[in-house]
Amino acid sequence: TTERTLSIIKPDAVQRNLIGAIYQRIETTGLKVVAAKMLHLDAAKAQGFYAEHEGKPFYDGLVEFMTSGPVMVQVLEGDNAIARYRELMGKTNPEEAACGTIRADYAESMRFNSVHGSDSPASAAREIAYFFADDEICPRG
Ligand code: CMP
Repeated sequence: TTERTLSIIKPDAVQRNLIGAIYQRIETTGLKVVAAKMLHLDAAKAQGFYAEHEGKPFYDGLVEFMTSGPVMVQVLEGDNAIARYRELMGKTNPEEAACGTIRADYAESMRFNSVHGSDSPASAAREIAYFFADDEICPRG
C-alpha cells in the first residue's frame, strides 16, 4: 500500500549541514519527497506537534531543542513508507540504532537525534496536516 509519512530533519542535523546527506538516504531507499519546507518552529507549534508527550520528563527539553533552530519538514511517499522510513532512521536512542541508520551515523543523543518520523498511519495523517495544506503536497505516482 502506498503511504505517506511526515519526516523532520531536526535542528542538530540542519546545523551540521546534514540536510543533503539525509535526503540522499531517503531517495536512495526509494521514498519520494512530495512536499517540503524549512521552518523555525515557535514554542506553541512545537508543543502542539508533541502534545502526546506533554508532562513527560523530556518534554520541556524537547520543545526547547526543536525551537532552537530551523528544521526541514517533508512528506515522504511510497509503498509502506511509514515503516520503511522508521527503519531508515533507526531507534530513538542512537546507541540502540542499527548500523547504517541515520541515527546511528548522525544522532548525538536521545534528545539530539537528528530526525523524526511518524509512527503510525493515524499519526502520519495528523502530523502531515499539522504542517501542510493539501495543495502543498505534490503526488508523484
Ligand atoms: P521523536 O521521534 O521526534 O519523538 C519524540 C522525541 O522525544 C524523540 O524523537 C526524542 O527526540 C525525544 N525523546 C524521547 N525519549 C526521550 C528521552 N528519554 N530523553 C530525551 N528525549 C527523548
